[in-house]
Amino acid sequence: MLIIRKAREVKEESEGEEASDIRGILDVHYAAVHGEPIDYYDEDVLDDWSPLVTDERIANFAQRPQRQEEVVRVAEMDNAVVGFGILVPRLSEIRACYVLPRLARQGIGLALLSELERLAGQAGLDWLNLNAALNAEPFYLANGYVADGLGKQLLPGGREMSCVRMYKFLVSESSKWSRGILP
Ligand SMILES: CC(C)(COP(=O)(O)OP(=O)(O)OC[C@H]1O[C@@H](n2cnc3c(N)ncnc32)[C@H](O)[C@@H]1OP(=O)(O)O)[C@@H](O)C(=O)NCCC(=O)NCCS
Repeated sequence: MLIIRKAREVKEESEGEEASDIRGILDVHYAAVHGEPIDYYDEDVLDDWSPLVTDERIANFAQRPQRQEEVVRVAEMDNAVVGFGILVPRLSEIRACYVLPRLARQGIGLALLSELERLAGQAGLDWLNLNAALNAEPFYLANGYVADGLGKQLLPGGREMSCVRMYKFLVSESSKWSRGILP
């Protein structure tokens, strides 16, 4: 059964607490990036986008300063993390949505995205934006996002990857106009 839940980010070694999801999240990230996108990006870009999952990478992920503003949800099946998504309410941004390639096209990405959109609506956001990887554009298009041109995403190691700027309004057409939000 698929469960979408809050990510657990406590330290793995903490006694009496449930294990952190960070390793599971990063394993999904690595598998997803080195899966479908290989037809769209060079290998050095993929390695920069998602390096091998080492203890150092896990520690760095937990300590990233951006972490404080991120809302992280995981998709769990049979007690394992099979996908994750990140919303940044301050920036009205979907920062991540990744699913294990072997479970692609089973609705897991959509379940994560829908939950992030629900949380965004709850937080009072009118719209969402994101940088879609070229391979992920069809997923977002199918789920109501609009493409707004090509952009570049700076990767942690300094390389740039091409992406598609996308956005979606979460409010209806009529309330968009009454609230003065431009299309
Ligand atoms: C993009 C991603 C999150 C989609 O997750 P998923 O669980 O496979 O997507 P879903 O099964 O929920 O797809 C929902 C709908 O989106 C569309 N869609 C999803 N993937 C698609 C693809 N590769 N090509 C065309 N349409 C696609 C389809 O309409 C699909 O419905 P259908 O299967 O009934 O036709 C996943 O493929 C992934 O992790 N990709 C690699 C990492 C990545 O690039 N993430 C995005 C970073 S911006």
